[in-house]
Amino acid sequence: MSPSEPPRITAYGCGPDEAALFRRAAAESGVAVTVTHTAPSEATAALAAGSRCVSVGHQARLTAAVLRALRQAGVEYVSTRSVGRDHIDVAYAERIGIAVENVSYSPDSVADHTLMLMLMSVRNAQSTVRRVDDHDYRLPEARGRELRDLTVGIVGTGRIGAAVADRLRGFGCRLLAHDRRPRIAAEHVPLDELLRLSDIVTLHTPLTAETRHLLDRRRIALMKPGAYLVNTGRGPLVDTDALIAALESGRLGGAALDVVEGEEGVFYADRRAGPAAGEPLLRLQKLPNVLITPHTAYYTDRALRDMVENSLANCLHHRSDHESRTRAT
Ligand code: COI
Repeated sequence: MSPSEPPRITAYGCGPDEAALFRRAAAESGVAVTVTHTAPSEATAALAAGSRCVSVGHQARLTAAVLRALRQAGVEYVSTRSVGRDHIDVAYAERIGIAVENVSYSPDSVADHTLMLMLMSVRNAQSTVRRVDDHDYRLPEARGRELRDLTVGIVGTGRIGAAVADRLRGFGCRLLAHDRRPRIAAEHVPLDELLRLSDIVTLHTPLTAETRHLLDRRRIALMKPGAYLVNTGRGPLVDTDALIAALESGRLGGAALDVVEGEEGVFYADRRAGPAAGEPLLRLQKLPNVLITPHTAYYTDRALRDMVENSLANCLHHRSDHESRTRAT
């Protein structure tokens, strides 16, 4: 491709709203964009021919085989429209000459949702709304707790964890935080201590080999009796079997989960015709003290726009870096 040709990028896995945003943003920035709803795979890698940069969604599974196919199609750069990169074999990508970057988007989307889940949990909102739907308007079961009387433990204090902390300060609760690198104004404590002291534990740490099952059986057993777990990070941060046992026994007060182990292929699908049995999700959904949202915490108009525009901008930035490197040689 000559430098005067418009840059081309392929945007995989786009829902209708992302597709419309991509087309608009691409037209505004003079980029030729191939927008497809299909996921990147060995079979669809050819769609990336002519695009040095591709944008993928967080549901894409970029295994070594898929990355190899993309590389063969000429891809040098992958921008994932998510903060998490756990769906991509980043080490392999780098080994074969593909750079991988995430995008930043409004952390307020996830932070607002996290606060909503916390408030719904401590005010028993789900069961109250369900009872009202059944015309049961009695009072006692609805009694809740006030956030200012509670201690909230934030695990992971990056942009989203920090935005959650900002909101919680307004509620006057005691804030504990755990991170390898203290980044917010809060009482920073070791993880086990945070679990022992918190009435609500909220997870905002990336999923890596080290953080898989960060909340394992031992750590869940450390949590305060009656405590709530809020997870808007990644499902595998929590050992789901251990969580279910703690919820069933009544040791934990409840869980509000936007992410669940094994959600791939289930969340965002219409399963009304008959959900498959035995999935951890179904076991969780049967529990009265569990509130599930299907990985929608990020999904606001602003965050979606940020994701698409920043993914495109990252691709263009990579391309101009590439061109200046090529001109210099
Ligand atoms: C992330 O940004 O990593 C998320 O989990 C949101 C994603 C579904 C776009």
